[in-house]
Amino acid sequence: MTTSTQSVLTRSPEWQKLQAHHTDVAELHLRELFATDPERGRDLTVTAGDLYIDYSLHRIDRTTLGLLTDLARAVDLEHRRDRMLRGDRVNTTENRAVLHTALRLPADATLTVDAHNVVADVHRVLDRMGDFTDRIRSGHWRGATGERITTVVNIGIGGSDLGPRMVYRALRHYTDAGITVRFISNVDPTDLVATLTDLDPATTLFVVSSKTFTTIETLTNATAARRWITGALGEDAVARHFVAVSTNAAKVAEFGIDPGNMFEFWDWVGGRYSVGSAIGLSVMAAIGKDAFAQFLAGMHTVDRHFTETQLEANAPVLLGLLGFWYSNFFGAETRAVLPYSNDLDRFPAYLQQLTMESNGKAVQLNGAPVATATGSIWWGEPGTNGQHAFYQLLHQGTRLIPVDFLGFAEPTDDLPAIDGRGSMHDILVSNLLAQRRVLAFGRTADELAADGVPDSLIPHKVMPGNRPSTTVLAPKLTPSVLGQLIALYEHQTFVEGVLSNINSFDQWGVELGKTQAVELQAALSEAEGTTQPVDTSTETVVGWYRSIRG
Ligand code: F6P
Repeated sequence: MTTSTQSVLTRSPEWQKLQAHHTDVAELHLRELFATDPERGRDLTVTAGDLYIDYSLHRIDRTTLGLLTDLARAVDLEHRRDRMLRGDRVNTTENRAVLHTALRLPADATLTVDAHNVVADVHRVLDRMGDFTDRIRSGHWRGATGERITTVVNIGIGGSDLGPRMVYRALRHYTDAGITVRFISNVDPTDLVATLTDLDPATTLFVVSSKTFTTIETLTNATAARRWITGALGEDAVARHFVAVSTNAAKVAEFGIDPGNMFEFWDWVGGRYSVGSAIGLSVMAAIGKDAFAQFLAGMHTVDRHFTETQLEANAPVLLGLLGFWYSNFFGAETRAVLPYSNDLDRFPAYLQQLTMESNGKAVQLNGAPVATATGSIWWGEPGTNGQHAFYQLLHQGTRLIPVDFLGFAEPTDDLPAIDGRGSMHDILVSNLLAQRRVLAFGRTADELAADGVPDSLIPHKVMPGNRPSTTVLAPKLTPSVLGQLIALYEHQTFVEGVLSNINSFDQWGVELGKTQAVELQAALSEAEGTTQPVDTSTETVVGWYRSIRG
């Protein structure tokens, strides 16, 4: 089905069958699903590269899976995937190809787009990045005073910040050359002030990362950082202390960074899909080009899995279908991602941009309103911290919140447990296992009564269960595994976008706020107040602000 309007999808036999089936399974409890099909805990699993994914704790049976994959075929998912991967301009509102997958193709691959092999471009830039970061790491590239660079500060926001920030934190064990990376993103000046406060300009290199090189936060912070460098080291120091990552060489030059010190990427890399591009430069400076290559290879492993595996065993497809199942048939609004890894504490924030900027859309590719729910609200915190904060609502609240648990067999750090038996990492993983089990199976009134719980407390202590989760496990949080996780969620986001027939690759909804902020900035600082006609609420708040600021 090549849907021009999505109501074609919701009227399709595949949808109707799924809807009828939903009424059969919606009331089934996971206890019953396991009782009637005990093998599901072994069978409803899939591997993708090093990732082992258990999706048995979902409110589905084996029929559901067939109907969901039928739906995926009805929307032509495989063809839509292939069109993206070969470089068709699937980002139709910006008339761009979507080729973040090309960033991780091996050097001997070829991908010809508009009669041009983009893989050659990718590896040309990767080689330049490798050469540059080698020089930083070895001390051959020095600051203006001749001192070694010890801190790299990435200035960027959104996709030019969240990816490298999350990856640097997740791979802190792979930093091996004494380079520390810090990040400045917010236009709130406290971000820059707090980040630079204990740094020495002589040993600090700034990477100004911006796809467009027009983003006000980044240009404002980069200008302030430039003042910080030139104030301490003089105007000539800029060339030794600033490099840029962008698609926009003209703007980089205009800002005063030599395009020779610019690392390029291309308009076919969306900001939120760009961590494998030169946007990863600061990460490469910390972990080196070989570990960065493993990170890219990990992404490529899952790209191949996504491309080559039949839908029924295709991990991102299954995750996307399950997400769509809950948001469209159970009315689930949000999805929690709970990494049992402190080093992945920025992963939920990273996924928020990836998923919500991609699929927070209300119109289809042809501009008609969508007929399905789109864009779940993604959120989360690492376990076990979240257990002591919001899990109460996951367990006993009135909302259905599908959960993704992430965990690792091998720790990145470990210490003995309190009694010397087992380790702290075992405690961490046992909590992951306990939480998914309790969410799924709960505790009934009868079980509580059998345990001697007083009648008056039983309703308060009943754990309803039947709360679905996916568990994604990997041997260890390595560069490759992290790349695999990122690609898994990139492609699951794509799958949900295809099911809703939306453009997952534009972000028009963020533009108006940017324009109005520029207009209102003038109102805040100019004596006459607002120069544009505004509503009375805005006018009053501007007046209040100015009365305090003077
Ligand atoms: O405002 C949203 C956005 O355009 C994101 O899509 C992007 O990742 C971010 O801003 C930063 O953009 P740039 O890399 O061009 O500075």
